[in-house]
Amino acid sequence: MEERKPTRRDALDLLHRYNETDSLRKHAYAVEGVMRYIARKRGEDAEKWGVIGLIHDLDYEKFPDQHCRKTGQILSEQGWPEEYIRAAISHGWGICSDVKPETDLEKFLYTIDELTGLVVTTALIRPSRSVLDVQAKSVRNKWKDKRFAAGVDRSVIEKGAAMLEIGLDEIIEDTIRGMQDVAEAIGLKGNPPPGN
Ligand SMILES: [Fe+2]
Ligand SMILES: [Fe+2]
Repeated sequence: MEERKPTRRDALDLLHRYNETDSLRKHAYAVEGVMRYIARKRGEDAEKWGVIGLIHDLDYEKFPDQHCRKTGQILSEQGWPEEYIRAAISHGWGICSDVKPETDLEKFLYTIDELTGLVVTTALIRPSRSVLDVQAKSVRNKWKDKRFAAGVDRSVIEKGAAMLEIGLDEIIEDTIRGMQDVAEAIGLKGNPPPGN
C-alpha cells in the first residue's frame, strides 16, 4: 500500500472539491486549528493531526446518509494511509461508525469536534462576535443550558474527555486556543473588544 503522507494541500483540495458550503469549510478549519494546537502542545505531528481535522467530515455535504463510510471510501480511492482513514471515521463512533477512538489523535478528534460548535455559538453571542474574546468559563456556563447550541451533544464531549482522562476545563481551554489561532479563517475574528 502506498504510504505517502498526505499534505495539507492534498486535504484542502479534497475539502474544497467535496464541501462547497461555507459553514462546513469553516468547521473543517476550526477542527484543523484545534488539532494542530493540541498536537503542538503535546509534541505530536501537527501536520498529520491538522490534515485529519480538515477531512474528517469530507462526505457530509454530498453524502449525509453515508457519513463516515463515504469518507473512508473516498480516501481509500485516493490512496490515503489506513491510519488517516481510521482516524477520520472514528470521529463518528456511536453516531455513524462503530470504529472506536483508540489513539490520542482519535480521542482528541472525537472530543473536540462537537466542542468547536459550542465555542462558535459562545463567540457569536459576544458583542464582538469574536472567538478572541471567548473564555472557558463562558463555555462552561452554557454546558447545562440545553437550549443553547442545542445541536451540540455535550455527552459526546464528556465521553471523549473521560477517554482522554483530562478535565473538561482543559479541553475547553485548548479548543478555544486552537480556534483563536485560525480566527480569521473561521470568520470569528470579530472586532477588538471596546477599550482594547
Ligand atoms: Fe462528522
Ligand atoms: Fe465535524
